[in-house]
Amino acid sequence: MKQSAEKNRRIVLNSRPDGAPTSDNFRLDPKDRPEPAAGEVLLRTVYLSLDPYMRGRMNDTASYAPPVEIGEVMVGTTVCRIEESMNPDFVSGDWVLANSGWQDYALSDGQGLMSLGQELERPSRSLGVLGMPGFTAYMGLLDIGQPKSGETVAVAAATGAVGSVVGQIAKLKGCRVVGVAGGSKKCKAAVETLGFDVCLDHYATDFSQQLADECQEGIDVYFESVGGKVFEAVLPLLNVKARIPICGLIAHYNDTSLPEGPDRSPLLIQTFLVRRIKAQGFIIFDDYGSRYGEFLEEMTPWVADGKVKFLEDVVEGLENAPNAFIGLLEGENFGKLVVRVGEE
Ligand SMILES: NC(=O)c1ccc[n+]([C@@H]2O[C@H](COP(=O)([O-])OP(=O)(O)OC[C@H]3O[C@@H](n4cnc5c(N)ncnc54)[C@H](OP(=O)(O)O)[C@@H]3O)[C@@H](O)[C@H]2O)c1
Repeated sequence: MKQSAEKNRRIVLNSRPDGAPTSDNFRLDPKDRPEPAAGEVLLRTVYLSLDPYMRGRMNDTASYAPPVEIGEVMVGTTVCRIEESMNPDFVSGDWVLANSGWQDYALSDGQGLMSLGQELERPSRSLGVLGMPGFTAYMGLLDIGQPKSGETVAVAAATGAVGSVVGQIAKLKGCRVVGVAGGSKKCKAAVETLGFDVCLDHYATDFSQQLADECQEGIDVYFESVGGKVFEAVLPLLNVKARIPICGLIAHYNDTSLPEGPDRSPLLIQTFLVRRIKAQGFIIFDDYGSRYGEFLEEMTPWVADGKVKFLEDVVEGLENAPNAFIGLLEGENFGKLVVRVGEE
C-alpha cells in the first residue's frame, strides 16, 4: 500500500505488550490527510526511524519519557518533506527532521523541527550516523568512555546504529576495538567494512572464552548497549579504572520480571569497587542536547571522507514497520533500521 495524497495512514498502539511485542499490539488507523492552518506546515514522511527506545514507550510505566497512550500514533523520528507551508520559516519542498511518528502526514507549528535544507544527498543518514544514534555513539564514547590511544574498547551490538559508530570512532582515536554481534555475517561486516580489529558472535557456545582470549590485556572501555550474557562475559575482564558508558540494555527490554537465580549484585558492586570502575548511564538529548552542533561539525566530514562508514537496513512501506520493529528486538536488523514511507 503506497503513500497517497488523500489519506494519512497512521500506525497506533493497539494494546500494551506482555513481554515481546506482537503485531496485535499495533493497528493501522487511517484518517484523512490533515490541512495546515495559518502558522502551520504539513509534513510528509519519507523515512521513519525504528529504534529500541520505542519498546519502553509501549509500557505504561514511568520512565525518562511518557508512554504512548492506547490509540495514539507510535512515536518516532522522521525525515520529512514540507508538503505545504503556512509558516514563513519553511518553504514547500524543504527537508526537515521531525518527531512526527509512524504516519504519512503530520501538522507542525515549526517548533522542534530541524531544517535540513532543500537538497539532501542521503536523507536517511539524518536518522542514523548523522542523527540521534551517531550522536549517542559520539557523546557516550568520547565524554563518558574517554578512550585513549592503545586502550581496548569492547562494543556490544557492533553492527547496529550506535555500536557501528562507537567502534569506528574508537579506531579513529587509536584504540583496539573488539566488537560483539549476533552471527558470522554481522561479525564479518564489523571487521571488513567497519574496520574493527575483531568481532565475536555472542551466539557461540564458548563466547565468554573467546572474549577472554581476545582481551588478554583486559577491557578499558565497554560501551554497554545490551546487558545479559554479553555484560556477564565482559565483567571479569574489566581493567582497573575501566569506563562503561551505559547506553542501553536491549537484551532486557522485553523482560517482565527480574531473572531467577542467586543475587549477583554483591559481585557486581565488589568488581566496581576493587577495580575502581566508572559506569554512567545517559539519555542522549536530555544530557547532551546542547552539544548536537559540535557532534555534526566533527561527524559530517568523517562521513564525507569515508572515515566513518554506515550500515543501513531499509524496510519498504509503513505497513511493514511493526514487523521490522519486532525484528529489531530480536537482532534481525543489519545496520540502522529505517522505513521508507514515501517517495523522496
Ligand atoms: N541512552 C540513549 O540515549 C540511547 C540512544 C540510542 C540508543 N540507545 C540504546 O542503544 C542500544 C542500541 O541501539 P541501536 O539503535 O543502535 O540499535 P541496533 O544496535 O541497530 O539494533 C539492536 C541490536 O541489538 C542487538 N540485540 C537485540 N536483542 C538482543 C539480545 N537479546 N541480546 C543481545 N543483543 C541483542 C541486535 O544485534 P546483534 O544481532 O548483533 O545481537 C540488534 O540488531 C539499545 O539498547 C538502545 O536502547 C540508547
